[in-house]
Amino acid sequence: MRGAERIGETGTGCGVGLAWLACGARPGAELVSVERDAERAALAAELFAGMPTVTVIQDDWTEIYRDAPYDLLVLDGGGQGKTGGPVADPHRLLRDGGTLVIDDLSPAKHWPPRFEGKIDQPRMHWLNHSGMDAAELRLGPDLAAVVATRRYG
Ligand SMILES: C[S@@+](CC[C@H](N)C(=O)[O-])C[C@H]1O[C@@H](n2cnc3c(N)ncnc32)[C@H](O)[C@@H]1O
Repeated sequence: MRGAERIGETGTGCGVGLAWLACGARPGAELVSVERDAERAALAAELFAGMPTVTVIQDDWTEIYRDAPYDLLVLDGGGQGKTGGPVADPHRLLRDGGTLVIDDLSPAKHWPPRFEGKIDQPRMHWLNHSGMDAAELRLGPDLAAVVATRRYG
């Protein structure tokens, strides 16, 4: 995603993932990250204070809609569907061909994938999404990510 002009993230945490995104982004790319926890958001905002292209918003993840659409969107704190609540709408959040990433998943060992003994409905939501081409990538023995690209048109 080196060509991404606008990058979003939900769940800034302390800004580790955001720092990786900022390091890999093309010059001039705009990055927006939303963190609900006030202390973490303030720490992260301080960390990126010298980078005018990086904005940290302290609020619920749904504020990520404010600066949409994105070329790359990482759902790391809200919007993935993992913990209930509303699920992100890729038609509003992504440009055509834009990519969405959800990580911190256990690698699927069955089809359909299961989590804690039940079908992993949040993962199925993204893998079966009619507007997205999605795949699960195994990153390690106990870690996987879903990467999904918004279809054109
Ligand atoms: C897994 S951590 C994020 C890690 C971070 N992205 C990194 O790479 O270091 C998840 C974060 O999402 C935040 N979070 C959880 N629910 C949220 C919500 N509804 N809106 C915004 N942030 C949320 C949590 O406070 C937590 O800091």
